[in-house]
Amino acid sequence: MIPIKIFDTTLRDGEQSPGASMNIEEKIQIALQLEKLGVDIIEAGFAAASPGDFEAISRISSIVKNSTICSLARAVQNDIKAAGEAIKEAPKRRIHTFIATSPIHMQYKLKMSPDEVVKRAVEAVAYAKTFCEDVEFSCEDAGRSDIGFLKEILDAVIEVGANTLNIPDTVGYRLPHEMGAMIKELSEFVNDRAIISVHCHNDLGLAVANTLECVVNGARQVECTINGLGERAGNAALEEIVMAIKTRADYFAPIVTNINFKEIYPTSRLVASVTGIEPQPNKAIVGKNAFAHESGIHQDGVLKHQETYEIINAKDIGLDKNSIVLGKHSGRHAFKDKLSTLGYSLTEDEINEAFTRFKILCDKKKEIFDDDIRALVAEEIVKIPQIFELVTLQLSDCVPGGVPSAAVTIRHDDKETTDAAIGNGTMDAVFKVIDRVCGVNGELKDYKVEAVTQGKDALAKVVVKVAFDESKPAVMGHGLSVDTMLATAKAYIGALNNYMHMKEGLRMKGLEKKGI
Ligand code: KIV
Ligand code: ZN
Repeated sequence: MIPIKIFDTTLRDGEQSPGASMNIEEKIQIALQLEKLGVDIIEAGFAAASPGDFEAISRISSIVKNSTICSLARAVQNDIKAAGEAIKEAPKRRIHTFIATSPIHMQYKLKMSPDEVVKRAVEAVAYAKTFCEDVEFSCEDAGRSDIGFLKEILDAVIEVGANTLNIPDTVGYRLPHEMGAMIKELSEFVNDRAIISVHCHNDLGLAVANTLECVVNGARQVECTINGLGERAGNAALEEIVMAIKTRADYFAPIVTNINFKEIYPTSRLVASVTGIEPQPNKAIVGKNAFAHESGIHQDGVLKHQETYEIINAKDIGLDKNSIVLGKHSGRHAFKDKLSTLGYSLTEDEINEAFTRFKILCDKKKEIFDDDIRALVAEEIVKIPQIFELVTLQLSDCVPGGVPSAAVTIRHDDKETTDAAIGNGTMDAVFKVIDRVCGVNGELKDYKVEAVTQGKDALAKVVVKVAFDESKPAVMGHGLSVDTMLATAKAYIGALNNYMHMKEGLRMKGLEKKGI
């Protein structure tokens, strides 16, 4: 058997997807789920990018035991130092440092000669080695780099101890046969001096095909993300790569992965609910339609013999299509069991809180599906401390010609404040009154609402993106309720809490002072 290492970068490259930012608690939940999924390396962030990234990587480093925790770092001292400090508690740790090697990047972005780039790469790897034994080096934009220059720089970084050499197709330019040929030549050149890794972007929709072609040509690590999240058109999707290798073992054997396949669907759902980015319905493996058969001929075929139209059994990826879960009469024990099957690692207090929310939901909703439980935990339980908390929301009845109004009570610092506002519509009134009570003036950048499962009594999940400060990026908030307006108010206050936490929490922990 030849094991391929799965390097997941959902928390780093995936977070670079427009609108996919996650808070620290959410990142921890995802990291724990990735560990359960069996990924070999978790790229937990880019420590020098922000105090929030640094904090998330350190917390993940002290919690995750089985996967290697990695931080990205540019080939500069401060970045590498931040990465080294952030991962220091991890039982297995790696620094991933990179510099661009393509003529276009060296000339216009770095404004450095190829010799200077080699020198910088060598210094970076040597410095990273002073923090940990496991160091990965990436040639950014390798897909458009000269292969002779790649060999020169790889040779130089191997000399100072780089263990893994990553070849990214940063702009998703290469075709599968070209990517395969490049990896074959580089693997033969490097031989067993280091592991060759690939990192393919999806600009031409070829990221997974390119990755698989690299695997058969000598790559022994693949970098990928859950649901194919990532910069622009995204990265190669983890679930597609590993299921292709498993399903077509006739072609890929003896290549195997360590993935625990039954955790694929729970991981995909967790990432979708945390980021608010749903995979397209026809997305392979995890899209809503991946196992749906519309035509009568197909339905008939599947009923007679499943393999007539399905090459993967939904159960193999942890998707139980018929799973209607617990009802009104279910006990705490069964509920706890369900949480663990769905991949959550919650404290006893969080389980109690989730159970209370579940019981409230049972009174409002007839059938409760796995996705309801996932949404409930992701939205209501795994969250940062509530600086502002919504206590009540009251809306005026909508009558033609009437004036829409909203009244709220919000708790802050153990004090409750009640106020009301009118607006151009009910939603406008809700945002206005929250702004007034909390003393902010948020600008709504994006608003999305969707039903979590089917039925008129379905839970509404609202995702908002709000800018509370022109000089800072907009933040996301999620809200869940059978009532859409209540979900909207919760989402808006959630975004405000994320913003306050980012601003206040990190200032209090003094991370900014560390100069990171
Ligand atoms: O796409 C890319 O080149 C990257 C590197 C930093 C590995 O994400
Ligand atoms: Zn990338």
